[in-house]
Amino acid sequence: MNDEHAIRAFSARFERRVPTLAVRAPGRVNLIGEHTDYNGLPVFPMAIQREVRIACAPRRDASVRVENVDARFERREFVLVPEITPFARGDWGNYAKAAAQMLVQRAGITRGADLLVEGDVPLAAGLSSSSALLVACTLALLAANEVEIERTELMELCARAERYVGTHSGGMDQAICLGGRAGHALVIDFAPVRFEAVRMPDDWRFVIADSGLKAGKSGAAREGYNARTVECRTALERLRASWKETPTTYAELVTHATTGELVGRARSVLDDVLLRRFRHVVSEGARVDAARAAMLAGDAPRFGALMNASHASLRDDYDVSCPELDELVVHARSAGAFGARLTGAGFGGCIVALVRASEAERVVHALRTRYHAPRGLEAESSVLVARAADGADVRTV
Ligand code: GLA
Repeated sequence: MNDEHAIRAFSARFERRVPTLAVRAPGRVNLIGEHTDYNGLPVFPMAIQREVRIACAPRRDASVRVENVDARFERREFVLVPEITPFARGDWGNYAKAAAQMLVQRAGITRGADLLVEGDVPLAAGLSSSSALLVACTLALLAANEVEIERTELMELCARAERYVGTHSGGMDQAICLGGRAGHALVIDFAPVRFEAVRMPDDWRFVIADSGLKAGKSGAAREGYNARTVECRTALERLRASWKETPTTYAELVTHATTGELVGRARSVLDDVLLRRFRHVVSEGARVDAARAAMLAGDAPRFGALMNASHASLRDDYDVSCPELDELVVHARSAGAFGARLTGAGFGGCIVALVRASEAERVVHALRTRYHAPRGLEAESSVLVARAADGADVRTV
């Protein structure tokens, strides 16, 4: 949306008012390190060129009014108070409420705003459209109240705020949305959040392909996701109870022993399901470290092999893949990708594949013709060559 068009669209919805702030917040693709963040182990995502944009006009009163250019999302309104009652489960307005409640509690904001939202992050596809919306609302309300909060604190606040919608997610999505850097992927660590930007080799491309199966955070995938977080906690508690010297977090565990040693020892304590969840988490943490080294060394075959191992682990140990995602990764690899894996929480959504720049169009074409076209899925918009983008920002217009 260009500025003039944005202003007209805004004025048509909000009694001829004019927006004074423009916010953008990118989606993300996670390259490796899946279901590790809520276990305190690192992730390795990058922000992408798809984003949520908000035009905002601050108000004098405490009302927040949110409109969406996409007519599927109805107008929402609420008032800034310390405890904001959520809309119905799954309602898109809850992301604005989550941001607002967090800022009332943390910064005592009192000025509401009129917000017009639009964006092109595919919804419920594992590319973090919802966190982008929450971050965009947060930056809009902060700017409307002329309040500043330091970025790393904001990453933590936004991560916690998102629990308002009912998902017990980790902090990856909000951190990369706020901290993304063009041309780089970020290794992000947690508790406390900290990150390192790793430059993407010039001839690497990450191709994202949507399975067409919806996996929204506030929808059906939430149950499966929340169940995994409980299983990981339970596994750690059981180990702690039976290993006298066991450290209290996954992060401490992996600094004391290798994946093989940890799994070997856990075998006598955990039942089959918990052992597999545990094995995924600790092995995936190690793969992030190895992937960081591979990117720094420009070693695409190694990075690709780690992606393949990650997918196998998510499929066989973590049980969050599905036949469609498994099929997509096979197509990507057979078309020449160095490696491919599901990305995001799984249960549907997208895969990501690493390809040589000169091969990207060929792999994109192969995915469209082998997976999307036979299913009658919109081939054009379902496959994308990702560009590592900058994190969210707000500017005065
Ligand atoms: C979702 C959550 C993230 C992360 C991923 C899985 O995207 O929001 O915090 O846990 O799933 O890696």
